[in-house]
Amino acid sequence: MLDAADIAIEIVPMGGPCGAEIRGVDLSRPMSVATLAQVQKAWNDHLVIFFRGQDVTQEQQLAFAGRFGELGARKQAPDRLREKAEGVLQLDPKILLVSNIKMDGVPIGAFGDGDMWFHIDSGYSQRPYRYTFLYGVELPSSGGNTLFSNMYKAYDAVPERLKKHLAGKRALHIHEYKRTAQVDVDGDISDAPHWYHPVFITHPYTGKTALFVDRLMTARIEGVPKAESDEILAELYEIGERPEFIYAHDWQLGDFVMWDNLATIHARTDFPRGERRLMRRCTVEGEPVRE
Ligand code: OGA
Ligand code: MN
Repeated sequence: MLDAADIAIEIVPMGGPCGAEIRGVDLSRPMSVATLAQVQKAWNDHLVIFFRGQDVTQEQQLAFAGRFGELGARKQAPDRLREKAEGVLQLDPKILLVSNIKMDGVPIGAFGDGDMWFHIDSGYSQRPYRYTFLYGVELPSSGGNTLFSNMYKAYDAVPERLKKHLAGKRALHIHEYKRTAQVDVDGDISDAPHWYHPVFITHPYTGKTALFVDRLMTARIEGVPKAESDEILAELYEIGERPEFIYAHDWQLGDFVMWDNLATIHARTDFPRGERRLMRRCTVEGEPVRE
């Protein structure tokens, strides 16, 4: 059955490779099944969707996100990395505060200051998150934009010789909670979170092929000599980060942005030191990814 809210919803594509604004929705209120289906369709089509001017509590955010699947719990970092992975205000295991704010000199959340290289959320784990939901609570005066790249388009742009060469191959994804540097994988990596995923994946909802490689966490192609792996990965990072595949989200207070973590990679631009930024994040859990 349609209600007024179903009719009012408006999808405004950003006109680029991905990204659409959805208007006419108040996320603090339960969404009808019909509207939810429209949102899911828009999400599959545009990969990154957002709602402006939202005023949602943590509970409302989790209730909405939970309509798209099993909510993700924060992945536990090993003890030696725990301080880098999360802050002291992480009271709900399903919420991650993305923030540079400190309380008595101690970070309240994760990801601190500055820019962040392109990555897949929890790409280093067996089940990378399916979806991420980020709500803007406090913003700096400029910068701190989130960039999203369409990895279906990136896959299409991979030269045929590489598509053939990499078919059936996996890559090592590894993370030690640095934001602009990879883990050195030449030594013992057993105590750093890592997993191997296919270089090309089939999206479980759309059936389309996506490039599944990012500069921050994808360190080595399995079964390929290091020098060649480095060369191929450099080429794949460049393809994944081409400006024509990127939508840059310029945050406004109250923005609620949600992205498909299997069909996009994302990064963050720098922002002025000393200015506060606070976002509330939750996720939907994923399944092991397949070629
Ligand atoms: C994240 C993330 C980017 C940002 O929350 O996973 O990468 O702009 N955030 O804070
Ligand atoms: Mn992220």
